[in-house]
Amino acid sequence: MAHVLTTEPTMLTTGASQTKAKRIGDREKTAARLLRAAVERSYDAEVDIDWDDPFSDDKQFAPEHRLSLYGTRIWDKLSPEQRYEMSRHEMVSIFSFGIFAEAVLSTFLFRHVISNGLANDSTRYALTEIGDEARHSTMFSRAINKLGVEPYELPKGVNWFINLFTGILPACTTTWGGTLLIEEILDRLQREAMLDEQIQPHLRQLFKIHVLEEARHITFAREELVRTYQKANRFTKAFHRFMIALVCALVLPVVFHPEVYRRVLGMSPLRGALAAQLNPNYRGNAQFMCEPMIRYFHEVGLVSGRVTLKLWKSTRAVPDDLYGELFGAPRKQKAPTLLGRGVRRLVGA
Ligand SMILES: [Fe+2]
Ligand SMILES: [Fe+2]
Repeated sequence: MAHVLTTEPTMLTTGASQTKAKRIGDREKTAARLLRAAVERSYDAEVDIDWDDPFSDDKQFAPEHRLSLYGTRIWDKLSPEQRYEMSRHEMVSIFSFGIFAEAVLSTFLFRHVISNGLANDSTRYALTEIGDEARHSTMFSRAINKLGVEPYELPKGVNWFINLFTGILPACTTTWGGTLLIEEILDRLQREAMLDEQIQPHLRQLFKIHVLEEARHITFAREELVRTYQKANRFTKAFHRFMIALVCALVLPVVFHPEVYRRVLGMSPLRGALAAQLNPNYRGNAQFMCEPMIRYFHEVGLVSGRVTLKLWKSTRAVPDDLYGELFGAPRKQKAPTLLGRGVRRLVGA
């Protein structure tokens, strides 16, 4: 029998990781607690989602205001059918990214198992989390089939680079930071979408399952981030700060695969990606997705250093109050230049 999951509005924040950088406990105690949580709160999308139930024509696949072109001139000219297709394809793009990212995160968890000792709670917890991610990716893969759209693969060159990267890097501050980047972004988007009654019920159920199980992953990664960072020397710390900011600056613009624009609108992916970047809503969405994560990174001491700060600035995701604190002055509302206005008009942003 399927689990019945509640959809109280308070779930927007309930169950979200409350881990504080200053209160990191013993790794084994945390792992034992999270193992108990895994026994109490684990779901199986094979039975907990009714995959045979058809989609409703009057429900969306994603909240419109989070779609990459919502708010642009291109969006204003789209028909309701094209908007519906955009929401279907961008959701498939997110699920494709999710499967890819969870494979990378699980690789790092396996590496954690290799170096962490074989018979203790934190190793058992890491193995449990790998099991969670395997079920999540199975769930995402089934959702892609249900949505009836071919998955969005990454370019071969990027796959090659990521394979190399995951093969070389041990579990360290950068890998835990990268893990949080993926998990916290998805947590924010899915927490909001699971409460939205305009969204297809299958997807709301999927988001709930993922959010509930990811809460413990975020707790574990947040604690490991602090433990590994505190052990590092001054130079390694600077390297990890830089790497986490760099990964965030590179990943945020491609959360939605640019190939979506070609498949749905027949538009060049470059033009679509530019329009998404110049979308007046881009900053608000980036801040929404990254806020709890960046505040936590700041608490840990990861958002500092000249180059690192420049990278964080380039992400446009730093919350306004934190921006003032980090850069010594509130963010200026710059009037767009003539060239900027021209490019924006040219690409339809
Ligand atoms: Fe997951
Ligand atoms: Fe996870």
